[in-house]
Amino acid sequence: MKAKPLTHFAASLVLTFTAATQLLAATALAPAATLSLTHTNGSVTSLTISNAGDQVWIVQGSSNLTSWAEVESLKVFNGSYHRSYTNGAENYFYRIFYDVTRQTIISATTNALVLPATNFNYASPSLPTTFLVNPILAEDNMTSNNTNSDAGALLGRVLFYDRRLSTNQSISCASCHQQAHGFSDLRQFSAGHDGSLGTRNSMGLSNARWYQRKKFFWDERAATLEEQTLLPIQNPIEMGMTLAALTNRLAAEPFYTNLFAQAFGSPDVNTNRISRALAQFVRSIVSTQSKYDIGVTNNFANFTTQENLGRQLFFGQNNTPAVTCSVCHITDNFVQTTIIDNNGLEFPLVDKGIGGISGVAAELGKFKVPSLRNIELTAPYMHDGRMTNLEQVVEFYNSGVVSNANLSLPLRGPGGAPLRLNLTADKKAALVAFLKTLTDTNLATDVKLSDPFNYGN
Ligand code: HEC
Ligand code: HEC
Repeated sequence: MKAKPLTHFAASLVLTFTAATQLLAATALAPAATLSLTHTNGSVTSLTISNAGDQVWIVQGSSNLTSWAEVESLKVFNGSYHRSYTNGAENYFYRIFYDVTRQTIISATTNALVLPATNFNYASPSLPTTFLVNPILAEDNMTSNNTNSDAGALLGRVLFYDRRLSTNQSISCASCHQQAHGFSDLRQFSAGHDGSLGTRNSMGLSNARWYQRKKFFWDERAATLEEQTLLPIQNPIEMGMTLAALTNRLAAEPFYTNLFAQAFGSPDVNTNRISRALAQFVRSIVSTQSKYDIGVTNNFANFTTQENLGRQLFFGQNNTPAVTCSVCHITDNFVQTTIIDNNGLEFPLVDKGIGGISGVAAELGKFKVPSLRNIELTAPYMHDGRMTNLEQVVEFYNSGVVSNANLSLPLRGPGGAPLRLNLTADKKAALVAFLKTLTDTNLATDVKLSDPFNYGN
């Protein structure tokens, strides 16, 4: 019988090498780390090193547990580093070793990042023709101060997925804006670097580039996307970082100086560049390949009868009852144009929204009307994530809109009272089916928008 000691070794043992293991001087205290091995198939071993901090670990291999040879040295950036090794031998063992004299080794680009030999095209995505003319052209919030370049957006992508952006290196932007969920978060309230929760639901980032008012956040407190990108980094309950500490931390990594040089012509790491690169990446999250997009080109021949009924309801066509969702979720980006709205979620107001920032009474309880692109993926819904699914959203608009002084006109019926749609079950289901045609599965899996780190965040 073939022995499989490697598997047993992996499954039964998590090696912990701490202070004063072999070879080390007594004063050279190593941080605690764990190594776990999984014998996936044949001679392939998946290795995960976990440690807190930014340490270099030397991976050693042995076929007899007596003499150990160096396999490679890795800078393990807080958390976990995943790696696969192939070794022909039936019995082969790995361990990790900490050497205080070798802590200056720094991650090389090839070691830290998985990047294609030729960069992706971020600068000029192919866009549907409707995006190249008004009204969508006017929604574009990319300005000549910061036009997308391939290298700039790539740097932004690396930053977006890098946990170095949080003070204890525990979370990245992507922790709360996950690609598989339309760059949003399944949690009602996302957890920050120390586990604290905010009071608003993370926003999906599909087509954030197209918003005519150019402002960001539910309450529009960021005047531009460039301004927005620095705020979560410094927010005490989100990433809790100072910009000075961040620039120092990034400048210490050679792969960053390379990426900054490619993006901006010199290796200097500074706040302005960080914000611009992050904004470029967010503007690269372009969704144009949903079932709806195909429908635009073929007069919706690809839609089911139910989806087409939902589409007509959404746009208030063909004498359907007054369900003109498209009054507020407008254009092929399904985003509001120049105004802000209150959709009657609650009264009294728990969250004052834009009025809480501006101090203007007529803006109390009004919020940015977000794009509905990929809405199926970005549950839960509304600024406080109060609704867990699209059926609840549709039922809310059907029967639950609450009266308040700032309730937007399209949601008012006779006498100004909240509109009651009285939709049949079939029509409610049709609206939900239509909303799901805005899902772009390519976006949720596109490698050019995915985590570039070897760390396996
Ligand atoms: C701890 C979770 C968390 C982290 C980390 C985080 N975000 Fe967010 N993000 C949110 C939440 C919650 C909102 C909505 C907050 C609000 O409106 O007050 C939001 C809103 C946004 C918006 C506004 C979208 C719109 O349409 O207005 C953008 C853009 C954004 N985040 C990008 C980023 C970037 C870039 C980073 C990393 C530098 C980041 N976020 C880190 C949770 C997070
Ligand atoms: C008067 C403008 C208006 C109309 C009409 C309107 N909405 Fe909205 N919608 C909003 C606003 C404002 C929000 C954000 C509210 C908040 O979170 O406080 C919103 C949020 C949503 C969301 C959640 C978005 C997210 O990212 O969480 C969905 C889904 C939605 N609307 C679908 C619809 C549908 C379907 C209809 C038609 C039945 C509709 N809306 C009609 C203004 C409107």
